[in-house]
Amino acid sequence: MERKRNHYYSKFPEANVKIYTISESLRRHLYIFKTIPGVFSYNKIDLGTKVFIENMDIPTESKVLLDLGCGYGSIGIVLGYESPQSSIYLIDINMRAIWCTRENVKLNLKNAKNHIFILSGNYFEPLENKNLKFDGIYMNPPLRQGRKEFLKILDIIPEYLNRNGSFQFVIKKKMGALFTKKFFKDTFPDENIEILCKRSGYWVFKCFHSS
Ligand SMILES: C[S@@+](CC[C@H](N)C(=O)[O-])C[C@H]1O[C@@H](n2cnc3c(N)ncnc32)[C@H](O)[C@@H]1O
Repeated sequence: MERKRNHYYSKFPEANVKIYTISESLRRHLYIFKTIPGVFSYNKIDLGTKVFIENMDIPTESKVLLDLGCGYGSIGIVLGYESPQSSIYLIDINMRAIWCTRENVKLNLKNAKNHIFILSGNYFEPLENKNLKFDGIYMNPPLRQGRKEFLKILDIIPEYLNRNGSFQFVIKKKMGALFTKKFFKDTFPDENIEILCKRSGYWVFKCFHSS
């Protein structure tokens, strides 16, 4: 796939290298994140990410969870902190995001016992031949690339979910929250889609198997 080099979803962004530090209280815990230009929302935590983190459902027992398109790692790191028994996978295509995620895991989860796996590549490609399924997949999708790519992901998510697993994501109402809900219901009539929260123009969704 040909990707421009000056976007947050480029493999090797060309923006200047300068390290920024974001400190943010999420779910009543203070996190410190290192970020660099070329990574999504590098100068402050994105509002959609924040609304998502504050409202996503997190299992407390031991599960296998995935932060898909992890950026500098905020979602996966909060999952790791709040669900200390779980294994956490974090995937991104952007190599700068992967560098930040590695640093941020060291900074924020240094005493954690989670098994953390940070993988670079195109969505599920780094998992090929691993025969891995998740109890939770979490995503703040990159809609700047267009909605089509996200709908393609939505289509293949069930292949990567365990039977009782869920896919949770955030989407701005204006960027097609209603359309996405309808697409999901039409494509997967036997699955459930629930809105966990509507705040500041963002909708947080949870999709799961009916039975
Ligand atoms: C909207 S950002 C969200 C980042 C992070 N989860 C957050 O909330 O701050 C979407 C992320 O998806 C990543 N991404 C875009 N296309 C991808 C692909 N084909 N495979 C893996 N990650 C991708 C981008 O690099 C970016 O970090």
